[in-house]
Amino acid sequence: MKVPVGVLLSGSGTNLQALMDACAAPSFPAEIRLVISNRADAYGLERARLAGIPTLCVPHRGRSRADFEAELVAAFQGAGVQWICCAGFMRVLTPAFLDAFPNRVLNIHPALLPAFPGLDGQGQAHAAGVRIAGATVHLVDAGTDTGPILCQGAVPALPADDRDALQQRILAMEHRLYPMALRWAAEGRIQLTGRQVQIDLLPGEALALWEAAG
Ligand code: GAR
Repeated sequence: MKVPVGVLLSGSGTNLQALMDACAAPSFPAEIRLVISNRADAYGLERARLAGIPTLCVPHRGRSRADFEAELVAAFQGAGVQWICCAGFMRVLTPAFLDAFPNRVLNIHPALLPAFPGLDGQGQAHAAGVRIAGATVHLVDAGTDTGPILCQGAVPALPADDRDALQQRILAMEHRLYPMALRWAAEGRIQLTGRQVQIDLLPGEALALWEAAG
């Protein structure tokens, strides 16, 4: 049986798309049971609907964080999900949510953490003039992008890149990383020792990916 997963998002949902595409393979160990957005206009909700996956909009505005997160927890528990993937979810989660899914909430961040946490990781990297940029999949803790790291992918930041060109190159790397990490999670191959994540890798798998320059 496939492991039931919930997805949280706020925007376009290209990472959701990458996860849904992976889940469509019969041999993939996870299935997405519920997609929740805090924004009604998130195109990610439409992507889920097109794939026949149940969706919910849970607005965060005009209410307490505790109230907002309690509704998220109730919806995901009602759907029976075991893992949560944040895929462009632009709200911080507190222990009120995280304790309901202990060490079972994944996030993808558009930078090589611990560099450039928080908003606009790609823009921060571009503004800093880095030569290597990338993305990180990590377990979510109560900090902002501070949780234990599963895998990272590095891409070149080229002199001719504007912020958007760099963002697109990072995004393509995100789409490779996230399905890989979800597979490890769903197959129970992740073990946490302090801040170190141990992953039982199969031949051909890697914890770090590179895209060569030029
Ligand atoms: C992605 O680049 C993701 O890494 C980033 O938002 C984008 C969502 O794109 N997430 C964060 O910045 C979280 N702090 P998508 O909606 O096309 O998947």
